Amino acid sequence: MEPDSPHLRGRLVVFEGIDGTGKSTQIQLLAQYLRARGIEVVTDFEPTRGKWGMKVRQAAISGERLSIEEEIACLLQDRREHVRDFIEPALEAGTWVLLDRYYLSMMAYQGASGANVEEIRQWNEEFATVPDVAFWLDIPLEMAMQRMNARGNGHDAFENEPFLQACADVYSAMEMPWLHRIEADGSVNETQARVRDIVRQELGV
Ligand code: TYD
Repeated sequence: MEPDSPHLRGRLVVFEGIDGTGKSTQIQLLAQYLRARGIEVVTDFEPTRGKWGMKVRQAAISGERLSIEEEIACLLQDRREHVRDFIEPALEAGTWVLLDRYYLSMMAYQGASGANVEEIRQWNEEFATVPDVAFWLDIPLEMAMQRMNARGNGHDAFENEPFLQACADVYSAMEMPWLHRIEADGSVNETQARVRDIVRQELGV
């Protein structure tokens, strides 16, 4: 790099959608694509395995869920620490960060649980880096339920049909210029091709 060339920040790319849409597979394939082009990439997910994220996960696994207020407080704290300790340092170092879920999940899931979606967005954007690009992987609910059943590890408190339909409805109403809806009901490779088209178009890689 030239001594006076600007330091290049990494990009934040987020994958969203209800459970069973294939986010983690798509993230790994996009990471491979970017690394093959010489880009430093890290992948991660939310809720994290830190103290606050685990509190929400453990409640959901037990089938109970926390109160909506507690859930929001824990998830905001989890994200605050994640942005401060992991996401921002990576971006600053020029590394791209690919995330499986971020604050659009809070808009969808806690929004579908009765919280105000716009308010949730504002609370998050007070501290959370806005994504460069986000993908909403959209598949029919029945297909998502089938994939979850095929995993065979039971359903947590978030994974029931009426609730996930309500989450999908919130996702479909979101309008951010950086959010792209991807039809994800075809093959893994078809979905990945759509993702890469948008990465090329929006991020030039
Ligand atoms: P999930 O991605 O399903 O984790 P895993 O695949 O490891 O089980 O995330 C767990 C749940 O957390 C998921 O059902 C959605 C929920 N969630 C929220 O309700 N709000 C949020 O802000 C986030 C990030 C996740």
